[in-house]
Amino acid sequence: MKPVAGLGQLKSLDDLTNRSGWPHSLFSTDGLPRAAALDIIDTAREMVGVGRRRVKKLPTLRGRTVINAFFENSTRTRVSFELAGKRMGADVINFSASASSGAKGETLGDTARTLAAMNPDLIVIRHPDGGAPWFLRERVGCAVINAGDGINEHPTQALLDALTLMEQLGDLEGRTVAIVGDVAHSRVARSNIHLLHTLGANVVCVSPSTMRPAQMDLALKAQWTDDLDALLPRCDAVMMLRIQRERLRESLFPHNREFAIRFGLNPRRADLLPSHGIILHPGPMNRGVEIEPAVADGDRAMILSQVENGVAVRMALQLMLLGRSES
Ligand code: NCD
Repeated sequence: MKPVAGLGQLKSLDDLTNRSGWPHSLFSTDGLPRAAALDIIDTAREMVGVGRRRVKKLPTLRGRTVINAFFENSTRTRVSFELAGKRMGADVINFSASASSGAKGETLGDTARTLAAMNPDLIVIRHPDGGAPWFLRERVGCAVINAGDGINEHPTQALLDALTLMEQLGDLEGRTVAIVGDVAHSRVARSNIHLLHTLGANVVCVSPSTMRPAQMDLALKAQWTDDLDALLPRCDAVMMLRIQRERLRESLFPHNREFAIRFGLNPRRADLLPSHGIILHPGPMNRGVEIEPAVADGDRAMILSQVENGVAVRMALQLMLLGRSES
Protein backbone atom coordinates (compact mmCIF):
# COMPACT_ATOMS: atom_id res chain seq x y z
CA MET A 1 0.00 0.00 0.00
CA LYS A 2 1.11 3.57 -0.66
CA PRO A 3 1.75 5.93 2.25
CA VAL A 4 -1.22 7.99 3.37
CA ALA A 5 -1.07 11.21 1.36
CA GLY A 6 -4.20 13.01 2.43
CA LEU A 7 -7.61 12.40 3.88
CA GLY A 8 -9.23 12.60 0.46
CA GLN A 9 -7.45 9.44 -0.64
CA LEU A 10 -8.42 7.34 2.34
CA LYS A 11 -10.75 4.42 1.79
CA SER A 12 -13.15 2.99 4.32
CA LEU A 13 -12.13 -0.62 3.97
CA ASP A 14 -8.79 -2.30 3.80
CA ASP A 15 -7.89 -3.76 0.42
CA LEU A 16 -7.20 -7.08 2.08
CA THR A 17 -10.14 -9.38 2.68
CA ASN A 18 -10.28 -12.49 4.80
CA ARG A 19 -11.47 -15.85 3.49
CA SER A 20 -15.16 -15.14 3.99
CA GLY A 21 -14.84 -11.94 1.98
CA TRP A 22 -14.99 -9.63 4.97
CA PRO A 23 -12.58 -6.71 5.16
CA HIS A 24 -9.92 -6.99 7.84
CA SER A 25 -10.28 -3.44 9.02
CA LEU A 26 -12.78 -0.63 9.47
CA PHE A 27 -11.45 2.87 8.94
CA SER A 28 -14.40 4.94 7.83
CA THR A 29 -18.09 4.95 6.92
CA ASP A 30 -17.25 6.79 3.69
CA GLY A 31 -17.64 4.06 1.09
CA LEU A 32 -18.81 1.42 3.55
CA PRO A 33 -21.27 -0.61 1.46
CA ARG A 34 -24.92 -0.51 2.55
CA ALA A 35 -25.10 -4.31 2.78
CA ALA A 36 -22.03 -4.43 5.05
CA ALA A 37 -23.43 -1.68 7.30
CA LEU A 38 -26.79 -3.46 7.58
CA ASP A 39 -25.05 -6.79 8.28
CA ILE A 40 -23.11 -5.19 11.17
CA ILE A 41 -26.28 -3.54 12.52
CA ASP A 42 -28.31 -6.80 12.30
CA THR A 43 -25.59 -8.75 14.10
CA ALA A 44 -25.37 -5.99 16.71
CA ARG A 45 -29.11 -6.42 17.43
CA GLU A 46 -28.35 -10.01 18.49
CA MET A 47 -25.43 -8.79 20.61
CA VAL A 48 -27.75 -6.39 22.48
CA GLY A 49 -29.55 -9.55 23.64
CA VAL A 50 -26.27 -11.15 24.73
CA GLY A 51 -25.42 -8.04 26.78
CA ARG A 52 -28.72 -8.34 28.66
CA ARG A 53 -28.19 -11.97 29.66
CA ARG A 54 -26.98 -12.94 33.12
CA VAL A 55 -23.93 -14.58 31.54
CA LYS A 56 -22.72 -12.15 28.89
CA LYS A 57 -19.73 -13.98 27.48
CA LEU A 58 -19.45 -15.76 24.13
CA PRO A 59 -16.54 -18.09 23.34
CA THR A 60 -16.25 -16.91 19.72
CA LEU A 61 -12.96 -15.01 19.99
CA ARG A 62 -11.29 -17.25 22.57
CA GLY A 63 -7.54 -17.26 22.04
CA ARG A 64 -7.58 -14.04 19.95
CA THR A 65 -5.74 -10.93 21.16
CA VAL A 66 -7.16 -7.41 20.92
CA ILE A 67 -5.08 -4.32 21.74
CA ASN A 68 -6.93 -1.07 22.46
CA ALA A 69 -4.40 1.68 21.71
CA PHE A 70 -5.80 5.01 22.88
CA PHE A 71 -3.62 8.04 22.18
CA GLU A 72 -6.42 10.43 23.19
CA ASN A 73 -8.71 10.68 26.22
CA SER A 74 -11.74 8.48 26.16
CA THR A 75 -14.16 7.03 28.66
CA ARG A 76 -17.11 5.43 26.92
CA THR A 77 -15.42 4.35 23.69
CA ARG A 78 -12.47 2.70 25.45
CA VAL A 79 -14.65 0.93 28.03
CA SER A 80 -17.07 -0.07 25.28
CA PHE A 81 -14.34 -1.67 23.11
CA GLU A 82 -12.83 -3.39 26.14
CA LEU A 83 -16.16 -4.81 27.24
CA ALA A 84 -17.00 -5.85 23.68
CA GLY A 85 -13.73 -7.75 23.27
CA LYS A 86 -14.11 -9.45 26.65
CA ARG A 87 -17.73 -10.40 25.99
CA MET A 88 -16.60 -12.04 22.74
CA GLY A 89 -14.04 -14.07 24.71
CA ALA A 90 -10.88 -12.33 23.42
CA ASP A 91 -7.84 -11.41 25.52
CA VAL A 92 -7.98 -7.61 25.66
CA ILE A 93 -5.06 -5.33 26.49
CA ASN A 94 -5.52 -1.56 26.89
CA PHE A 95 -2.96 1.15 26.76
CA SER A 96 -3.34 4.89 26.80
CA ALA A 97 -0.92 7.54 25.53
CA SER A 98 0.03 8.86 28.95
CA ALA A 99 1.20 5.37 29.95
CA SER A 100 2.83 4.56 26.61
CA SER A 101 6.19 5.15 24.96
CA GLY A 102 4.68 8.02 22.95
CA ALA A 103 5.22 10.21 25.99
CA LYS A 104 8.91 9.22 25.82
CA GLY A 105 9.28 10.36 22.23
CA GLU A 106 8.63 7.12 20.33
CA THR A 107 7.08 7.56 16.88
CA LEU A 108 3.72 6.00 15.99
CA GLY A 109 5.59 3.87 13.43
CA ASP A 110 7.85 2.38 16.08
CA THR A 111 4.95 1.88 18.50
CA ALA A 112 3.08 0.10 15.67
CA ARG A 113 5.97 -2.22 14.85
CA THR A 114 6.42 -2.99 18.57
CA LEU A 115 2.76 -3.91 18.95
CA ALA A 116 2.84 -5.97 15.74
CA ALA A 117 5.76 -8.01 17.10
CA MET A 118 3.43 -9.25 19.85
CA ASN A 119 1.14 -10.81 17.23
CA PRO A 120 -2.23 -9.24 18.09
CA ASP A 121 -5.25 -10.16 15.96
CA LEU A 122 -6.81 -6.71 16.17
CA ILE A 123 -5.66 -3.22 17.13
CA VAL A 124 -8.31 -0.62 17.97
CA ILE A 125 -6.79 2.84 17.65
CA ARG A 126 -7.91 6.30 18.76
CA HIS A 127 -5.51 9.07 17.82
CA PRO A 128 -5.56 12.89 17.67
CA ASP A 129 -4.26 12.84 14.07
CA GLY A 130 -6.51 12.13 11.09
CA GLY A 131 -5.22 9.16 9.08
CA ALA A 132 -3.43 7.43 12.00
CA PRO A 133 -5.42 4.14 11.58
CA TRP A 134 -4.33 3.86 7.91
CA PHE A 135 -0.73 4.62 8.90
CA LEU A 136 -0.90 1.90 11.56
CA ARG A 137 -2.45 -0.64 9.18
CA GLU A 138 0.49 -0.27 6.82
CA ARG A 139 2.85 -1.30 9.61
CA VAL A 140 0.99 -4.17 11.26
CA GLY A 141 -0.26 -7.47 9.89
CA CYS A 142 -3.51 -7.55 11.82
CA ALA A 143 -6.99 -6.03 11.66
CA VAL A 144 -7.39 -2.36 12.63
CA ILE A 145 -10.51 -0.52 13.80
CA ASN A 146 -10.63 3.26 13.84
CA ALA A 147 -12.02 4.39 17.22
CA GLY A 148 -11.71 8.08 16.23
CA ASP A 149 -8.89 9.81 14.31
CA GLY A 150 -8.67 13.54 14.90
CA ILE A 151 -11.57 15.37 13.28
CA ASN A 152 -11.74 12.79 10.50
CA GLU A 153 -13.92 9.75 11.30
CA HIS A 154 -15.48 7.69 14.09
CA PRO A 155 -17.18 4.86 12.19
CA THR A 156 -18.30 2.71 15.15
CA GLN A 157 -20.11 5.74 16.63
CA ALA A 158 -22.05 6.17 13.37
CA LEU A 159 -22.93 2.46 13.32
CA LEU A 160 -24.20 2.54 16.92
CA ASP A 161 -26.16 5.71 16.13
CA ALA A 162 -27.70 4.01 13.09
CA LEU A 163 -28.69 1.00 15.21
CA THR A 164 -30.29 3.35 17.78
CA LEU A 165 -32.16 5.28 15.07
CA MET A 166 -33.39 2.08 13.41
CA GLU A 167 -34.59 0.62 16.71
CA GLN A 168 -36.79 3.68 17.20
CA LEU A 169 -37.71 4.67 13.63
CA GLY A 170 -37.34 1.47 11.56
CA ASP A 171 -35.99 1.91 8.02
CA LEU A 172 -34.10 5.21 7.68
CA GLU A 173 -34.97 5.69 3.99
CA GLY A 174 -36.46 9.20 3.61
CA ARG A 175 -36.06 10.06 7.31
CA THR A 176 -34.64 13.46 8.26
CA VAL A 177 -31.84 13.69 10.82
CA ALA A 178 -30.49 17.02 12.08
CA ILE A 179 -26.87 17.21 13.26
CA VAL A 180 -26.46 20.29 15.44
CA GLY A 181 -23.38 22.16 16.69
CA ASP A 182 -19.66 21.94 16.02
CA VAL A 183 -19.85 19.96 12.77
CA ALA A 184 -16.48 21.24 11.54
CA HIS A 185 -14.50 19.56 14.33
CA SER A 186 -16.69 16.49 14.80
CA ARG A 187 -15.58 13.10 13.51
CA VAL A 188 -18.95 11.84 14.78
CA ALA A 189 -20.72 14.19 12.36
CA ARG A 190 -18.53 13.14 9.42
CA SER A 191 -19.06 9.42 9.95
CA ASN A 192 -22.79 9.95 10.50
CA ILE A 193 -23.22 12.08 7.37
CA HIS A 194 -21.63 9.35 5.24
CA LEU A 195 -23.52 6.44 6.81
CA LEU A 196 -26.91 8.16 7.00
CA HIS A 197 -26.65 8.97 3.30
CA THR A 198 -25.80 5.34 2.56
CA LEU A 199 -28.90 4.30 4.54
CA GLY A 200 -31.12 6.72 2.59
CA ALA A 201 -31.70 9.43 5.24
CA ASN A 202 -31.64 13.19 4.63
CA VAL A 203 -29.09 14.96 6.80
CA VAL A 204 -29.43 18.63 7.69
CA CYS A 205 -26.56 20.24 9.61
CA VAL A 206 -27.24 23.18 11.90
CA SER A 207 -24.31 25.28 13.05
CA PRO A 208 -22.84 28.75 13.13
CA SER A 209 -21.00 29.42 9.88
CA THR A 210 -17.68 29.21 11.77
CA MET A 211 -18.47 25.56 12.54
CA ARG A 212 -19.11 24.43 8.96
CA PRO A 213 -16.38 22.23 7.48
CA ALA A 214 -14.56 23.61 4.50
CA GLN A 215 -14.30 20.29 2.65
CA MET A 216 -16.65 20.33 -0.29
CA ASP A 217 -17.57 16.65 -0.15
CA LEU A 218 -19.23 17.10 3.23
CA ALA A 219 -20.80 20.39 2.28
CA LEU A 220 -22.29 18.79 -0.83
CA LYS A 221 -23.73 15.75 0.89
CA ALA A 222 -25.54 17.53 3.72
CA GLN A 223 -27.93 20.45 3.68
CA TRP A 224 -27.17 23.38 5.98
CA THR A 225 -29.20 25.85 8.00
CA ASP A 226 -28.72 28.06 11.03
CA ASP A 227 -32.44 28.09 11.90
CA LEU A 228 -32.93 25.21 14.32
CA ASP A 229 -36.49 26.19 15.30
CA ALA A 230 -37.69 26.09 11.70
CA LEU A 231 -36.05 22.71 11.06
CA LEU A 232 -37.12 20.75 14.16
CA PRO A 233 -40.81 20.15 13.22
CA ARG A 234 -39.71 18.13 10.17
CA CYS A 235 -36.97 16.09 11.91
CA ASP A 236 -37.33 12.44 12.86
CA ALA A 237 -34.20 12.71 14.98
CA VAL A 238 -31.81 15.35 16.20
CA MET A 239 -28.19 14.64 17.07
CA MET A 240 -26.51 17.19 19.35
CA LEU A 241 -22.72 17.68 19.30
CA ARG A 242 -20.30 18.87 21.96
CA ILE A 243 -18.14 21.87 21.06
CA GLN A 244 -14.70 20.31 20.51
CA ARG A 245 -12.78 22.88 22.55
CA GLU A 246 -9.65 20.74 22.61
CA ARG A 247 -9.46 21.14 18.80
CA LEU A 248 -10.12 24.88 18.67
CA ARG A 249 -7.28 27.36 18.48
CA GLU A 250 -9.61 30.34 18.63
CA SER A 251 -13.12 31.02 19.84
CA LEU A 252 -15.71 30.42 17.14
CA PHE A 253 -18.58 32.07 19.03
CA PRO A 254 -18.77 34.79 21.69
CA HIS A 255 -19.82 32.79 24.77
CA ASN A 256 -21.36 29.45 25.81
CA ARG A 257 -24.57 31.30 26.66
CA GLU A 258 -24.84 32.77 23.17
CA PHE A 259 -24.31 29.33 21.68
CA ALA A 260 -26.93 27.78 23.96
CA ILE A 261 -29.53 30.43 23.09
CA ARG A 262 -29.09 30.00 19.34
CA PHE A 263 -28.19 26.30 18.96
CA GLY A 264 -28.82 24.57 22.31
CA LEU A 265 -31.61 21.99 22.70
CA ASN A 266 -33.91 23.19 25.49
CA PRO A 267 -37.38 21.85 26.45
CA ARG A 268 -39.18 24.44 24.27
CA ARG A 269 -37.18 23.38 21.22
CA ALA A 270 -37.51 19.66 21.98
CA ASP A 271 -41.30 20.16 21.93
CA LEU A 272 -41.03 21.39 18.33
CA LEU A 273 -40.06 17.85 17.26
CA PRO A 274 -42.87 15.64 15.95
CA SER A 275 -44.28 13.24 18.57
CA HIS A 276 -42.06 10.35 17.38
CA GLY A 277 -38.91 12.54 17.20
CA ILE A 278 -35.88 11.36 19.18
CA ILE A 279 -32.71 12.97 20.51
CA LEU A 280 -29.19 11.56 20.31
CA HIS A 281 -25.86 12.71 21.73
CA PRO A 282 -22.58 10.78 21.41
CA GLY A 283 -21.32 12.01 24.78
CA PRO A 284 -19.65 13.48 26.66
CA MET A 285 -22.40 16.09 27.08
CA ASN A 286 -21.88 19.68 28.15
CA ARG A 287 -25.16 20.19 29.99
CA GLY A 288 -26.43 23.74 29.67
CA VAL A 289 -24.45 24.37 26.46
CA GLU A 290 -25.64 22.17 23.56
CA ILE A 291 -28.27 20.36 25.63
CA GLU A 292 -30.36 21.29 28.68
CA PRO A 293 -30.49 18.75 31.55
CA ALA A 294 -34.30 18.40 31.26
CA VAL A 295 -33.87 17.34 27.62
CA ALA A 296 -30.87 15.08 28.23
CA ASP A 297 -32.80 13.23 30.94
CA GLY A 298 -36.17 13.30 29.16
CA ASP A 299 -38.12 10.48 27.46
CA ARG A 300 -37.04 11.37 23.93
CA ALA A 301 -33.32 11.15 24.76
CA MET A 302 -31.70 7.91 23.50
CA ILE A 303 -28.30 8.68 24.99
CA LEU A 304 -28.03 5.63 27.24
CA SER A 305 -29.42 3.34 24.50
CA GLN A 306 -26.58 4.64 22.33
CA VAL A 307 -24.09 3.54 24.99
CA GLU A 308 -25.65 0.06 25.26
CA ASN A 309 -25.77 -0.25 21.47
CA GLY A 310 -22.12 0.82 21.27
CA VAL A 311 -20.96 -2.31 23.07
CA ALA A 312 -23.18 -4.44 20.81
CA VAL A 313 -21.89 -2.85 17.59
CA ARG A 314 -18.28 -3.35 18.69
CA MET A 315 -18.99 -6.99 19.57
CA ALA A 316 -20.58 -7.51 16.15
CA LEU A 317 -17.70 -5.83 14.37
CA GLN A 318 -15.03 -7.84 16.17
CA LEU A 319 -16.95 -11.01 15.34
CA MET A 320 -17.14 -10.05 11.69
CA LEU A 321 -13.53 -8.92 11.32
CA LEU A 322 -11.98 -11.78 13.29
CA GLY A 323 -14.47 -14.50 14.06
CA ARG A 324 -15.32 -15.52 10.54
CA SER A 325 -11.75 -15.93 9.33
CA GLU A 326 -10.13 -19.34 9.60
CA SER A 327 -6.56 -18.18 10.15
C1 NCD B 1 -17.02 11.64 20.63
C2 NCD B 1 -15.56 11.60 20.16
O1 NCD B 1 -14.68 11.26 20.93
O2 NCD B 1 -15.38 11.91 19.01
N1 NCD B 1 -17.26 10.91 21.78
C3 NCD B 1 -17.42 9.56 21.70
O3 NCD B 1 -16.63 8.85 21.13
N2 NCD B 1 -18.52 9.03 22.26
C4 NCD B 1 -17.57 13.01 20.68
C5 NCD B 1 -16.94 14.01 21.59
O4 NCD B 1 -15.85 13.85 22.12
O5 NCD B 1 -17.57 15.07 21.75
